[in-house]
Amino acid sequence: MIGVFDSGHGGLTVLRALTARLPDQPFLFLGDHAGAPYGARPAEEVYGLTLANVERLFGLGCELVLLACNTAAAVALRRLQQDWLTRTYPARRVLGVFVPMVEAVTHVPWQIKRPPLGPPRTMTVAVFATPRTVASRAYPAEIARRAPAIAVVQQACPELVPHIEAGAPDGELAALVTHYVEELRRGMGGGLPDAAILGCTHYPLVAEAFRDALTEEVELFDQPSLVADSLARYLARHPRFAGSDSAGSGPRLLTTGDPDQVGAVAARFFGRPVAFETVG
Ligand code: DGL
Repeated sequence: MIGVFDSGHGGLTVLRALTARLPDQPFLFLGDHAGAPYGARPAEEVYGLTLANVERLFGLGCELVLLACNTAAAVALRRLQQDWLTRTYPARRVLGVFVPMVEAVTHVPWQIKRPPLGPPRTMTVAVFATPRTVASRAYPAEIARRAPAIAVVQQACPELVPHIEAGAPDGELAALVTHYVEELRRGMGGGLPDAAILGCTHYPLVAEAFRDALTEEVELFDQPSLVADSLARYLARHPRFAGSDSAGSGPRLLTTGDPDQVGAVAARFFGRPVAFETVG
């Protein structure tokens, strides 16, 4: 069983792509709805909450956990892997949604931490994300290591996750997206980036609004499908983490919040109704 963790609902956009790409693989989803949103929390808190929830998923039998939250991955992934995992759970693995995105932008595999030989990849990439992801500078730092000629401009969108979680109407969400795109453009002297990363797993819900505000000229990376393809390749290389859902029962979903409230809005993110259980 593979654990999939998010602070709240956003990870369901990733889980949806994972179950479509790997229909026989059992998944256990955990949303820390009681602790969400993480995007405005201090880094130490995000690290502590992420570690505690990964440990919960390990305790429930997951050998591999995917952080389906850019904020958790940007703040905690490297530190978890380097400080904690090797010491405490050397046989288990934690992956993050952030890695396939960096690979897609730079065209350099994650293990290679320097630019490849040959002509450098040049372009301007915008990163839209939560304030904590932006403050971590994880995207600009990891992109710069592999593709230093790519210019990265970041735009924090502090109101977007709270409004999405609160079920704000589409028009209100589109207006917020337009506001953040305009803020980015002002910072760029009016220009547009060549490509944009929607660096929060909630944002696929407003991808159309980003598409409209950024115009067709800007390449948009689709994080859920990149992550699903990347996990499929990972499981082919590491088959010991792959399982089989022979009963075809679909993913099991847990929350630290109220399962009825969470289940009532989850369909918007997952694409069909799903039932949540309280995590023990
Ligand atoms: N969905 C999370 C992400 O990808 C952020 C949500 C939050 O602020 O908790 O960054």
